[in-house]
Amino acid sequence: MIYPIVKFPDPILQRASAPVTEFDDELRKLVADMFESMYAAQGIGLAAPQIGIPKRLTVIDLSNKKEPKDKIVLINPVITLQEGKQVEEEGCLSLPEIREKVRRPARVIVKAQDEYGKWSEREAAELLARAFQHEIDHLDGVLFIFRISALKRDLILRRIRKMQRAGEW
Ligand code: NI
Repeated sequence: MIYPIVKFPDPILQRASAPVTEFDDELRKLVADMFESMYAAQGIGLAAPQIGIPKRLTVIDLSNKKEPKDKIVLINPVITLQEGKQVEEEGCLSLPEIREKVRRPARVIVKAQDEYGKWSEREAAELLARAFQHEIDHLDGVLFIFRISALKRDLILRRIRKMQRAGEW
């Protein structure tokens, strides 16, 4: 099933999501649906609140379906190490057409469960580290436009309001 993507300023995107506690078939169906919804939207990452489900679950695939081994499921993820610095442009399925440079740590270690409840640790750098942090931010109700300067954010919010008025958002 392909879920529609929730767009800013829907309040569900700015609230912290609840931990996943049941690792059952229903959860595994949700994970499969999230990959399907992400591919349909041409994204490389999707967090459950972005489809209206406030749970700590995110899927990532930098290859956009080309490499099955690149499919990553992070459930109840915790960042255990952050180091370095990178500044790159980011976008978000919940903020279509908006792109801005965001400063983030260059390397992270993330501990997370898979869809069977098994914990493991992953190390990521560059774009993957950025995707991990962007998606985990979603689970805490943080959008990338709240990680840039207030001045740049105001310009973006003005642009969104203009698109809303024109019926383009
Ligand atoms: Ni996003």
